[in-house]
Amino acid sequence: MVTSPDHIKTIKPYVPGKPVEELERELGIKGAIKLASNESSLGPSPSVLRALRHALKGINRYPDGSCYYLKTSLAEKLGVSPEEIMLGNGSNELIELAVRTFFNAGDEAIMAHPSFVVYSMITQAAGGKNVVVPLKEWRHDLEAMASRITEKTKIIFIANPNNPTGTINTKAEMDAFMNKVPEGVLIVVDEAYYEYVTSPEYADSMKHFRQGRDILILRTFSKIYGLAGLRIGYGIAKPSLITELNKIRQPFNVNSMAQKAALASLEDEKHISKAKKINEKGKKYLYRELKALQFDFVPTETNFIYVILKDDSAGQLYEKLLRKGIIVRPMGPREIRVTIGLPEENEKFIETLKKIQNAE
Ligand SMILES: Cc1ncc(COP(=O)(O)O)c(C=O)c1O
Repeated sequence: MVTSPDHIKTIKPYVPGKPVEELERELGIKGAIKLASNESSLGPSPSVLRALRHALKGINRYPDGSCYYLKTSLAEKLGVSPEEIMLGNGSNELIELAVRTFFNAGDEAIMAHPSFVVYSMITQAAGGKNVVVPLKEWRHDLEAMASRITEKTKIIFIANPNNPTGTINTKAEMDAFMNKVPEGVLIVVDEAYYEYVTSPEYADSMKHFRQGRDILILRTFSKIYGLAGLRIGYGIAKPSLITELNKIRQPFNVNSMAQKAALASLEDEKHISKAKKINEKGKKYLYRELKALQFDFVPTETNFIYVILKDDSAGQLYEKLLRKGIIVRPMGPREIRVTIGLPEENEKFIETLKKIQNAE
């Protein structure tokens, strides 16, 4: 049998959540809810659906490999040039391209833990070494991360806000960090939840981009824009970096439906502010109710909440919720991550937690 090298064999595969329909079938119930993957609870805007219906008849053609219209629209919105933008099949693809483009065997990537699992999986798959720095008070410890830079460091991943904790790093922290990172190290700032952030302290990665730093800012249409199923995200970096990344991407990496949907979603700013409002309301409701039920949690700048249990019962709580038709994400022995849903979903989650507590 053909064998994979050790660095592939030892990768822990990403475990996808159960589809809602399958859970409903297994339990013989209706109305199960998925609060596990931080998708938009509101869904895509009606204008996106119209654009998709219109685009359907063109699927016999390959997509526009340069994403011309979307890049132009994004460039205008962001105040950058189209040469400074790259589209990907989800921002996940851009994480992978960054590693594959810039890594030599034996290079190191620095990342936080817990943070987005894909950074370490891709680094390992590329034969690189993961240098893992624990979070400090649930946030990236940028000082400690900077202190781990060596000659072999090629990439530093910073999820800002962080998944799974929902925390941010501030302007002052990021400025101090950038001063410590030498030339030749690529800083990937993953801002998948950028649009949800409300804190005025939130670091301004675009400032560092404008200063000409080796920075790749990642954003996505999977979260507030409600297009997770279409797989589309983008990166912002100086043209010399984008040129290198483009050398190894597949010519038609972003499908035509995703391009049309993303373009339409950018034009519907009302829908995005509605999604943000719903999230803020849901956040406040969940804070209040979780507190009343005496759950600890980390205040969030995203559309999910990291809940910390009193003992190592996250696996059991996950199972109990699952059996009642609620899918959340267990993250550790005493942590679960729950996506902020629509009001009725949040209420169902809280009511179910109450029932579980009462039965104990
Ligand atoms: C921090 C972070 N980065 C990137 C992604 C992936 O986004 P995309 O759907 O654009 O690949 C996610 C998705 O959950 C995420 O949490």
